[in-house]
Amino acid sequence: MLKPDATSAGNIGAITKMIEEAGFRIVAMKKTRLSAELAGKFYEVHKERGFYGELVAYMSSGAIVPMILEKDNAVEDFRTLIGATDPKKAAPGTIRALFAKSIDANAVHGSDSDANAEIEGSFFFSQFERF
Ligand code: CMP
Repeated sequence: MLKPDATSAGNIGAITKMIEEAGFRIVAMKKTRLSAELAGKFYEVHKERGFYGELVAYMSSGAIVPMILEKDNAVEDFRTLIGATDPKKAAPGTIRALFAKSIDANAVHGSDSDANAEIEGSFFFSQFERF
C-alpha cells in the first residue's frame, strides 16, 4: 500500500516503477481513501501500541494506493525492497530511504506474512482476476 505522503507528493508512478522493476506483478491496484474507522480496522493488530492513534489519523488523512502483488518469495522480497519501517534506518536505495518522510509517513506498507497478505488483500479487493 502506498501511503498518503507518497500519493500527495506525486510519487505513485516512481514507487510503482520500482516495484515493477523489482519483478513484482501488479494483480490489483486502486486509489482510495480510508475513513478513520477503516484505518483502525486495517491496523487492528497495533491497537495496544502507543502509536496506534497517530497511525490511524495519519492513514486516514489522504489518498492511498493498495495493491495486490505477485512474485516468488513476495513478502520477504517486498520488505527488502521497501527497507526498514523507520526511514532513518532504511538501507540506501530502498523505497523508504528514497521517499519516506518519517516513521508514520513512511511511503509504503508491506504485509509481513503470506497469511496477512491474504487478509490485507481481501480488505481492499473483494474480487480480482489474474490477467
Ligand atoms: P507499517 O508497515 O504500515 O505498519 C505499521 C505502521 O505503524 C508502520 O508502518 C509505521 O508507519 C507506524 N509506526 C509508527 N510508530 C511506529 C513504531 N514505533 N514502530 C513500528 N511502527 C510504527
